[in-house]
Amino acid sequence: MTYNVALIPGDGIGKEVVPEAVKIIKALSKQHGFEMIFTEFPYSCENYFKTGRMMPEDGIEKLRNFDAIFLGAVGDFQVPDHVSLWGLLIPIRRQMQQYVNVRPVKLLPGIQSPLANRTSDDIDFVVVRENNEGEYSQIGGRMYEGTDLEMVVQETVFTRKGVDRIMRYAFELARKRPRKHLSSATKSNGIIHTMPYWDERFKAFSKQYPDVKTDQFHIDILTAHFVQHPDWFDVVVGSNLFGDILSDLGPAIAGSIGIAASANLNPEKKFPSMFEPVHGSAPDIAGKGIANPIGTFWSAQMMLDFLGEKKAATLLMQALEAVTANHIFTPDLGGNATTKEFTEAVLNNLNGN
Ligand code: NAD
Ligand code: IPM
Ligand code: MN
Repeated sequence: MTYNVALIPGDGIGKEVVPEAVKIIKALSKQHGFEMIFTEFPYSCENYFKTGRMMPEDGIEKLRNFDAIFLGAVGDFQVPDHVSLWGLLIPIRRQMQQYVNVRPVKLLPGIQSPLANRTSDDIDFVVVRENNEGEYSQIGGRMYEGTDLEMVVQETVFTRKGVDRIMRYAFELARKRPRKHLSSATKSNGIIHTMPYWDERFKAFSKQYPDVKTDQFHIDILTAHFVQHPDWFDVVVGSNLFGDILSDLGPAIAGSIGIAASANLNPEKKFPSMFEPVHGSAPDIAGKGIANPIGTFWSAQMMLDFLGEKKAATLLMQALEAVTANHIFTPDLGGNATTKEFTEAVLNNLNGN
């Protein structure tokens, strides 16, 4: 098989971890008889400085016919974050109808959780984040700017279609996992319209999936349970904002934001899906060559799996786990390996050394 993948390294450490992932994918493609052709796009804050846009006007159209999109990170302190992200990442997620954001959280072998006495058996769940609507909406605006009547409105949008499709995906995923357990993140005590609606749809779906055990928690106590009882969770479904927060907290209890992977999926495959680490451009460590590439490699693993290269995907995950079990870590995990040294270790493992 030949796959055409659009590569968007983006900014900061995105430009350091993406090329390393390409090396890994190339090694796997040689071993498993598939070809991945990468076409790089310079969409980034650098592009913004040069052209006044994060990507050209037809930027999304250019990505439309790829089999997948592989992205590093977006953001630079010289560009306001809402300009850079709404100029690139968020429009791709929306226009490609990547309405599911799958974010696995797992304590990998050898990594020490900041939580005492936790092992890989205790921390192994998936955050399923609604990725197209919710709290992330353009509806709103400002009035009476600069006067004492100044006001700003930001609307949250939950549609029946949008809520139902994320619920369906989460229930289907929970059904496929051994524990068959789905938890919903809500806040229906404080948010009076949208969150009771979310709960209502969760309940309606739970009737269609009697084999899936369900529970729901308000987001405030849910964050506490992630810390105190991570073993309670199997699949967690949340709105765009709640899913965003939970998917930084989850990797933090599993060692580092640097390991967090994500898949922005258009499950119908009408549009390409996009794979990217959860972390940002990390300006504080960019250029030092010490970014943890695990989140990016794991995202590559999710891409291979989604495209149907199951064997390569399984072997990549095993290689990552073998390297962490060997205590080869970048500084965020307490080690002293560089990004490239970590990559070498994964390549050596894949090559059977
Ligand atoms: P961040 O994820 O970039 O960094 C948070 C902290 O985690 C920093 O201390 C950083 O050094 C560390 N970190 C992150 N990834 C790491 C890795 N792979 N290895 C080692 N350490 C790592 O989040 P932030 O500081 O909130 O945001 C920085 C910029 O990135 C902002 O412009 C923000 O808008 C953007 N951002 C982009 C994305 C994305 O492109 N998907 C995601 C989050 C933030
Ligand atoms: C993520 C990021 C983005 C999000 C930002 C950068 C817009 O935090 O992918 O988690 O909130 O979706
Ligand atoms: Mn985030």
